[in-house]
Amino acid sequence: MEIRPGAMKKVHIKSFGCQMNVYDGQRMADILGEQGFEETATPEGADLILLNTCHIRDRAVQKVYTELGKLRDIKNAQKAEGQDTRIIVAGCVAQAEGAEIQRRQPAVDLVVGPQAYHRLPELLEQAKTRRTVDTDLPIDDKFGHLPAPRPQAIRQRGISAFVTVQEGCDKFCAFCVVPYTRGAEFSRPVAQVMAEIERLAAAGVQDVTLIGQNVNAYHGEGPDGRIWGLARLMYRVAEVPGIHRIRYTTSHPRDMDDDLIAAHRDLPQVMPFLHLPVQAGSDRILAAMNRKHTGDEYRRLIERIRAARPDIALSSDFIVGFPGESDADFEDTVALVDEIGFASSYSFKYSPRPGTPAADLGQQVPAAVMDERLQRLQARIEHHRQAFNHAMVGRTVEVLLERAGRHPGQLAGKSPYLQAVQIETEANQIGDRVQVVIERAGSNSLFGRKAGAPNEPVQRPSTPETSARPASSKELAA
Ligand code: SAH
Ligand code: SF4
Ligand code: F3S
Repeated sequence: MEIRPGAMKKVHIKSFGCQMNVYDGQRMADILGEQGFEETATPEGADLILLNTCHIRDRAVQKVYTELGKLRDIKNAQKAEGQDTRIIVAGCVAQAEGAEIQRRQPAVDLVVGPQAYHRLPELLEQAKTRRTVDTDLPIDDKFGHLPAPRPQAIRQRGISAFVTVQEGCDKFCAFCVVPYTRGAEFSRPVAQVMAEIERLAAAGVQDVTLIGQNVNAYHGEGPDGRIWGLARLMYRVAEVPGIHRIRYTTSHPRDMDDDLIAAHRDLPQVMPFLHLPVQAGSDRILAAMNRKHTGDEYRRLIERIRAARPDIALSSDFIVGFPGESDADFEDTVALVDEIGFASSYSFKYSPRPGTPAADLGQQVPAAVMDERLQRLQARIEHHRQAFNHAMVGRTVEVLLERAGRHPGQLAGKSPYLQAVQIETEANQIGDRVQVVIERAGSNSLFGRKAGAPNEPVQRPSTPETSARPASSKELAA
C-alpha cells in the first residue's frame, strides 16, 4: 500500500523489559507502518501511544501505571485541541492484568497481549467503538502473520538486529512470571527465521542476536522436516553473506548442549560472549527456585565452555533474598561470582510475583537484608567487570563500528565481548570492522586507536562514555 506522506499518522512506541519487547516493539511498528503510521520519538502529538510493558518485577509494573497517568494527561490535553489520541497497552503486563488495566486507568483504549499483536489493525478498529482486550495465548502462529520489515525501517534501526527465534518458557522457575505471560515454548521454523535474517542482511545488518526467553531450548522445524537445535540454526545463519557476528540470548544452563558449545569453538561468527544466568550459588536455594541444576553443575558447564572457547566472556543474572535465603546461602552466591569472574552481570532483589509458587513461600527475607546483600553482591560484580575491562588494555580486538561518537571524528562500536569501544578515526565509517588497540578502560567504555594508526592520545577529558554493559533483559526493565 502506498501511503501519501501528508496522510501519515503518528505512533509513539515505548518498550520496557527485555530484548523480546524491543523486537516486538519493532514488529508492531512494522504492522502500524502498513496502516499509515510513522514512528515519533515523543508521546506529545502522537495519534497512537503504545506502551510495551514488562511484568518481571513489581517495580516494572508500577512504572507502567505511573507512565499511564502521564499519558492520560497528554491524551486529555490533545483532546482539548481537537486531536483524538488512543492509548494501547501491550506486552507482559497486558497479558498478566488484562482488563484490570482499564479499570485502573480508563484512558486506555486497547490492551493487547504478546501473542495477539499481529491482530493490531482489527483490534484498533474495534477499539474505536469500545474498550478492547485481547490476551489470547493462541496456537495461531503470530510470526506467520507479521509483515516483513521494509528495508528503510531496517536501515534506520542500524547494523545490529534482534531476531526472535523462540518464545515462551516451560521451565517454571519458582519466582518467574514469564511462563504465564509468554506462554509455552514455541520455536519458529528455520525457513521463517532464515528469510528474516536474509532480509536484514540484504539491508545492511551485520550483527544478529537470536533471542528467546529460553533461546537454547530452540527446536524449530528444519527445511528437511526434522527438528533443528540452536547450534544447527547458527551454522545456517553463519552462511548468510554479510552476517559477521552472531549472538544468542537468553540461555538456560540445562540447555547448553555439546553442539552449542562446539559452535563456540568452530564458528568464527559466533561471538565469544555468553549470557548464562545462574541466579544463585547455594544448592538449597537453586533447588527451591526449581532451577534443576546445582552450583557445581554450573561450574562444570563453564569449564566445558571455556575449554571450547578460552577467551569467552560470561555474564549472569542473580536474585538476592529468595525466600529462605540465609547468610550462608548468600555467601555461596558471592563465592560463585568470585570463582567464575563474570565480565558483567545483573542482580535484583527478589520480588514476589502474583501466581508464582515462590510468592506463597514462608521465610520472605526482610527488605533491609536484601538491600545489604544486593549492595555487597553488586560491589563484587562491579569489581570483576572492571577487572575484565582493564585486562583489555594493550590488546587488539576487532570493533564493529555502529554509530557516530560524541565528537566529530569519533566512531563507537562493540568489541567481540560486547564492550562499547570508542575510537578516533577519519578514515572509517559505520559498518566497518576494524582492528583496534585498546589504550584505556573508562568506567563504561573502552578507548582505543586503529591498529597501525599513529600512537596519539584518544582521550579527551570531556568525552562522555556510553554503556559497555551487555544489553540484557534487565537493562530496560525496572
Ligand atoms: N529467560 C531468561 C530471562 C528471565 S527474566 C532467563 O531465564 O534468564 C530476567 C531475569 O529477571 C531473570 O534471570 C532473573 O534474574 C530476574 N527475575 C525474574 N523474576 C524475578 C523476580 N520475581 N524477582 C527478581 N528478579 C527476577
Ligand atoms: Fe523465567 Fe527464565 Fe526460569 Fe523461564 S527459565 S521461568 S524465563 S527465569
Ligand atoms: Fe515479559 Fe520480557 Fe518482562 S518476557 S515480563 S517483558 S522481561
